[in-house]
This record gives sequence, structure tokens and C-alpha cells, in this order.
Amino acid sequence: MTDAQTAAERLAALRSEIDAHNYRYYVLDEPTVPDAEYDRLFRELQALEAEHPELVTPESPTQRVGGEALAAFGQVRHEIPMLSLGNAFEEQDLLDFDRRVREGLDLPAGDLFGGGAEVDYSCEPKLDGLAVSLLYENGVLVRGATRGDGSVGEDISANVRTVRNIPLKLHGEGWPAVLEVRGEIYMPKAGFEALNARQLESGGKPFANPRNAAAGSLRQLDPKITASRPLEFCTYGVGRCDGELPGTHIEILHAFKRWGLPISRELKRAKGVAECRAYYDDIGARRDGLAYEIDGVVFKVNAIAQQRELGFRAREPRWAIAHKFPAREELTELLDVEFQVGRTGAITPVARLKPVQVAGVTVSNATLHNMDEVARLGVMIGDTVIVRRAGDVIPQILGIIAERRPADARAVHVPEQCPVCGSAVERTQLIKRGKGRESVSEGAVYRCIGRLSCRAQLKQAIIHFVSRRAMDIDGLGDKIVEQLVDRGLVNSPADLYTLAYEQIIVLDGFADLSTRNLLAAIEHSRTPTLARFIYALGIPDVGEETAKLLARALGSLARIQVALPEVLTWLPDVGLEVAHEISHFFLDEHNRQVIARLLEHVQLQGEGELHAEFAACATLPELLGKLNIPHIAVTGAQKLADRFGSLEAIITADWLDLRQVERLTEKAARSLREFFDQPGNVERARAIEAQLRAFGMHWESERQQAAGLPLAGQTWVLTGTLESMSREQGKERLEGLGAKVAGSVSAKTTAVVAGPGAGSKLAKATELGVKVLDEEAFLAALAQLNG
Ligand code: IVH
Repeated sequence: MTDAQTAAERLAALRSEIDAHNYRYYVLDEPTVPDAEYDRLFRELQALEAEHPELVTPESPTQRVGGEALAAFGQVRHEIPMLSLGNAFEEQDLLDFDRRVREGLDLPAGDLFGGGAEVDYSCEPKLDGLAVSLLYENGVLVRGATRGDGSVGEDISANVRTVRNIPLKLHGEGWPAVLEVRGEIYMPKAGFEALNARQLESGGKPFANPRNAAAGSLRQLDPKITASRPLEFCTYGVGRCDGELPGTHIEILHAFKRWGLPISRELKRAKGVAECRAYYDDIGARRDGLAYEIDGVVFKVNAIAQQRELGFRAREPRWAIAHKFPAREELTELLDVEFQVGRTGAITPVARLKPVQVAGVTVSNATLHNMDEVARLGVMIGDTVIVRRAGDVIPQILGIIAERRPADARAVHVPEQCPVCGSAVERTQLIKRGKGRESVSEGAVYRCIGRLSCRAQLKQAIIHFVSRRAMDIDGLGDKIVEQLVDRGLVNSPADLYTLAYEQIIVLDGFADLSTRNLLAAIEHSRTPTLARFIYALGIPDVGEETAKLLARALGSLARIQVALPEVLTWLPDVGLEVAHEISHFFLDEHNRQVIARLLEHVQLQGEGELHAEFAACATLPELLGKLNIPHIAVTGAQKLADRFGSLEAIITADWLDLRQVERLTEKAARSLREFFDQPGNVERARAIEAQLRAFGMHWESERQQAAGLPLAGQTWVLTGTLESMSREQGKERLEGLGAKVAGSVSAKTTAVVAGPGAGSKLAKATELGVKVLDEEAFLAALAQLNG
């Protein structure tokens, strides 16, 4: 085979591979390889074509900008093509660019240290989104289009209008009669994270990166979907322009800003290539802190006259270049999956990777989160995977290259025994309540059941226990905890309190003073607040905030320890799952022993009463709600509570009694009866009520509270509009005086306050002979009652 033949074959292979990637990237918004891999293929093709110019064809991907207009949208012909940019990967590429610019402008040569005449450049971040063209006629946005293949794009006017920082009309004055601005639509990082979280929650597929998310959002046939996506726009250039614009790129962008078009806050001017280089370093250092993804910076010759002089080469301007940052995504091989044991026993799969350089750092491990993630990625050992490293975050595996799976790839299996202690591994369960019963499904997390007998868990538990926000034992770093555990000196957190001077001083890195300091720190931790203690126990899903909440609301460890899950869900932000974790934790015999031993050494501070606000928040309708009785919704529960007044009366109510409850359907009544015909349900309901009573948060305490108030026991109804206050304010005033404020009028209603516009409620009150007050009389009554 001749050289030209092999080159021709390689060219054909590269072109078809790049074409396939282009299609997935531009049309499907679903690239399968990282940009770095694409860039490598593209550069190989460029280099090969440079060696064999006779083999360059017009269809070669190097001859096009990439992207095809989607037929689903109308087509837009760009009168001035939307071009792409040349890339600089190394410093030398940038110096070469600057040299070509100087040569093109006939300027004397310079170097990184100045010298020669320096070119005036503008510097901007290279946003990682989608290029768009916005056409303004007489200051009004008339069209928005994608770049497409550079000559023909898609008409996405309706979608573009939903991007909130794109002005539909230009501000101020002086804009050209026809002005086509160009820029990038992108999705900020925070919005991207939130969108992906929503996608996952609704069972959808998460987007691989913000660029894909932006592209996918803009290419929606329904603009309402686009509108719901957190997109932003940033202007970086001009297309068609019938009218005058300033003479430099930076001045043009500042004019755009005055007309209401967003421009980059990072736009800067650079004198010469050395300042460009400094800009690149500065933005590079701040890359992780920016609110949006960038993949490099763009340098442009600032003077428009010089841009004209330089002109274009193929599909790229000679006056601009993109200086790319090292890629954050790379390809490598998954060598193995190991399992790590965390503080709560959770067993986490960790990917062992063939070491690869990602954005300047060697990556050989990545997190796989849990087995659901492994399943979602469909990853097998031996696969070629895409790894991503962004900022300080642990490297992540984004996906696999399915085509490169080797024949001997192996599935990832959870070990049946804990890799550290050999105890059994259990799959966690998810408990959901609905329609009167609990349903249990399998969770994504596997746990070693060894608890503190598992050294991995013990170490993590102690590290957490002594941490600053928990028991705050200074001087007990991770390495020391490891030694204490490995030497068998500490088998439970309580053992910290019986450590002796002789046992500590022999540890690596300890001398007399450090030993005495550590003993003093341990001593000092003997009087924690209840909140710190709860947090220090390391209950799954109980962070510092939840620990504080539990301590503040329930006031004592004894109450927290026995609280039923349903009672815990009365706490704001505590859902049934967390409530079950808490209650499970305290029911566990092993945990009880650990706590009992700890209490021999520590005295909890600030234990006290149940918080008054918490005490007052339990109501009978809510209790009925927590029982999840089928067909009994909020109104039904309210009606039952109004009618029967106590749980016991509802449990024992007979069919006839139930049928008397106003607006309670037959179906609901039957369902209620069936529910309480099951002894388990009755017991559970009684237990919850008994606990609420024991804690002092029973609704009877509400009544007692109201009992001393002037309107206690009364039911008022507000209808029509009030002039001096809103209905909500009126309700608050009445409730403050002990009254209940109801939404409908019945024979039991004490009084109706009727403002202008009152309708059926007023009529019903008149019909039933209920007392009616107008606003004036109402105000007079309030004034009298308030004294
Ligand atoms: S200027 C003729 N400026 O990069 C110059 N492009 O590879 C055309 N991009 O299609 C582009 N930020 O999607 C320019 N500040 C910036 C940019 C930028 C992102 C994108 C744009 C363009 C691609 C070129």
C-alpha cells in the first residue's frame, strides 16, 4: 500500500467519525465523546489534509462549520455567514497568531516581553453555549436564529424571545435601522444543576453539560419549555448593520450595552500579546468561580479597520482566535470498581481509572455515587469512560463510549459482605406512605450492617463525633483517630472519655504538651448542648440544621429518642423518610447502648421544655392527615374534626354518625370505617395521639390557650372586601382574640363580617339568622375587645 493510499483511508475514517460526532453534537444535542477527543480527531484531520492537499474535498468536515439546520424549524439564511474561530491550545499557537496579525498589518515584530508595535486586542471569555443571531429592525427584535452550518440556521424567534435578558426592543437611541447582533445563549452553572435535578426527579434524562442543556432547551418546538429553562444571552459581535457603529470592537459592545444588550463583565482591552496571555491566566484562575462554563477566551483585533484589512481565511477570521483552556473532560479506561464504607455504613462504588491528565491534574479515581448511578450510566469494568474534573469537585464519570466496550467487560456487582469487616451488606429501603399504608421499595444505597464493629464505620463515626460542629474536640485529627481505632484503644465514641495519658503519649506525633492538650480538649467536650450531641451521633440524614431543630422543638434527648416518625413529621422540613431514619436509629439496640455509655461521661446542656410553637402546632385534622386514610383529604379531615372533636370519637363513630357529617361522601365514610376496623391502624393512631399528649403538644392545649381569650369557642366568617384591612389581616385579628375563622357559614357560625361584594355567604347567614356585621361594626367590636 502506498503512503497516499493509507492517508486516504485514514482521512475517510476520520471524516466519517467526525461527521458522526458533528451530527450528534449539533443535531441531536447528545455528543458521545468529550470535546477534547473531538478536537484531537479534528486536528489530526487538519494535519493530514495539510500534508495531502490533493485529498481535500469540499465535503470534508474541515471545510464546514458543522451543524445542520433542523427541518422542524423554518430556515434562515445568514446574509453575512456566521463563522467559527481558529483555536490556540498552546502558548506558541497564540504567539503565531499575533505574528500573523502583525505581518498582515505590516507591523514590526514583537515578543512576549513587549518590543515592536503592539496590537490592540479585545479579550472576552469564550462562553460554552450556542451561537445565535438576533435581528433588530427599527429597534425591535424581529428574528432569532441559530448558526446552523454558518450559512443557513434555524428560525428560533419564538424561543429566543423567552430568554429573559434579551431585549425585545432596544433601549435609548442611535441604533442602526437594521442591526443583527450575534452572541451566545448559555445556561449558568446553577441553573444547569437545578434543571438536571428536576430532570432526574421527574424520571427524565439529565443533560451531559450546560452547553447541551442550552442547545436542547433552545431547540424545543414548544417555546413554553424554553421559557422554563434558565437561559441567558451575552452579545459578542455584529452581523448585518445598516447604519453607523463605532470604530472598535470594544466601543461597539459598549454601545450595545447602552441599547440594553447584555455584554460580558469580563470584557477587557489588552495591549499586545503579553497582556492577552495575562488575561488568559487570570480568567483561567477564576474559571471555577464564574457563574457560567467557559472553554477558553477569545482575542479579537480591536480596531474594525484593522479587522477589515486582515479579512478571512476559509471559514475563520484572521483577526480573532479562541485560546482554549485545558479540557475538563477526558476519556480513560475503567480498571475496576471498589467499594468504600462510609460513616453510616453506606457502601459507595468508587471507580479506579487508568490515570489520565484532566485539566492539568492526574485523575485515577472517580466517584460513582451509588448503584443507581452505576445502572444509569450502564457502566461495566473495562469500559472507556468520560471523566470530568471541575474545580475542587471529586472527578465524576459522565458516561461511557458504548462502541468501545471490550468483549471481556465485566458487570459491577455489590459485594455481599462488607469489604472492611465482612458483615452482611443490606440494601436500604425507601418507605413511602400513601393511601393508608406504608409501601416499602428498594433504595439506591447499600449498607454494611456492622455499625461500630466495622472499623471503617467506627473511624468515620469518631471523626464525625469529634468534628468542630459536633463535640468539637480539638487535636483529634483523622490520622490520630485511625491510630486509636487500629490500636484497639477506641471501640466506641464513649471510649474517648476513658483514654489515659499513657495511652495517648505513645501515639505517633504526641509529646507531653500535646497529650495534655488533647486530654483537656476531651474534658472540655463533656458538656455539649443537646443539638451538638444529636448532630455528633451521626444519625443518617440528620445534619446540623435538623439536629438543632430536633433539640429546639423537642427540648430533651428523652423525647427525641422515643418520638414516633409521624410526630417527628410535625417538625418543619422533616419528611417521613428522615423521620423514619431518626426513629430507627434510636430503636436500634446497639445505638442505645452507645448512647447510654456516652451519657455516663457527658452532661447535656440546655435540655428543657417542649418549644411552645411546636406544642401548639398539632391539630386533630392534621393527625387524621398523617394517618393517610384513603379518600379523606384536608376538608374531609376538617369536617370530621369539627364534628367529633376527638380521635376517640372518630374511631368509635358508627356509620350513621359518619353519614351525618356535612359533605363527607359515602365513599370517604366507608373508607374511614374500613381503616379503623383494622386494629393495627387504631393502635397506631392512638399511640400517636398519646405521644402528642405526653409531649404536651395536644390540641387540647390549643383550646386551653384560647380559653382565656374573649372570642374563644366562637366561629366567624369573613366575606366581601374590607377597606381598612385585607381579609387575611381580619382573620389574624380574630384568631388573636381566640376565634376560629371558617370559610363557610353554618348554623354554628357566631357572626359574619360582610363587606361590599358579599354574595352567597351573606345570603346564607341571613337565611340562618346568623349575626351579620358590616366593616364599621366589625371595627367597633374589635376596638372594644382589644380595649
Ligand atoms: S466570536 C467571527 N466571541 O465560539 C467570530 N465567539 O468557535 C465569531 N463563542 O460560534 C465568534 N464566546 O459560539 C466569539 N466571546 C466570543 C465567544 C464566541 C463563545 C463561540 C461562538 C462561536 C464559537 C467559535
